[in-house]
Amino acid sequence: MNKRTPLVAGNWKMNGDPSLVEGMAAALAGYDGAAQMVICPPFPFLAQARELFAGHVAIGAQNLSDQEEGAYTGEVSASMLAGAGCGYVIIGHSERRALYGETDALIAAKFARAQTEGLVPILCVGETLEEREAGKTEAVVCGQLQAVIDAAGIEAFARAVVAYEPVWAIGTGMTASPEQAQEVHATLRQTVASYSADIAASLPLLYGGSVKADNAALLFAQSDIDGGLIGGASLTADSFLAICRAAE
Ligand code: G3P
Repeated sequence: MNKRTPLVAGNWKMNGDPSLVEGMAAALAGYDGAAQMVICPPFPFLAQARELFAGHVAIGAQNLSDQEEGAYTGEVSASMLAGAGCGYVIIGHSERRALYGETDALIAAKFARAQTEGLVPILCVGETLEEREAGKTEAVVCGQLQAVIDAAGIEAFARAVVAYEPVWAIGTGMTASPEQAQEVHATLRQTVASYSADIAASLPLLYGGSVKADNAALLFAQSDIDGGLIGGASLTADSFLAICRAAE
């Protein structure tokens, strides 16, 4: 029996509006299961989400600056997110790596900045289809994890979450099989365990990539999958609730 609380985080990406926040808050208010729920809406909806989720559902951001404050037009700081009530922040999402050129070094700096302000980073790792087909999955995901371990130290992972999101499964409907996901999760946990058995045992490992109400239970039944990082299915309350129930 593992010591990890099931965790389901919804990554709204650049979607949603105030009515979705209202509807999601109403729908999730009645949830009394064991899963910790996190919603990561776009920045403009954080204040409304904080008020309406009222601690029953944690809120998170989808990005942050690696800088503390200053002349960084368009950026948002960790202290601003903490002040807005965020408990979590997604870092290193494959869309930010691919579309905005975020490097392992920048991601490690964002990870450290988040923790400086008491935010729990959700560090995303994942391989492309080409990398998987070339047999590079383990090297890629462990390399992405190692870059942050090297920069932040293993102790930092006592206050973090890691999400395995195979790029080829994101938004495609091509969900990794439970066995595929478990194999990578076990490798990630073994990497952390090589430094600290205790931190490895307590580190939540989430799977993300086309998680839906009808496939979540088989994924979450895997011993090293502690919940999910949900994209599309987090935009409707019924599906998000069903996924949370599958994580219990
Ligand atoms: O961060 C979660 C996201 O990348 C997964 O998206 O739509 O495949 O659940 P989706």
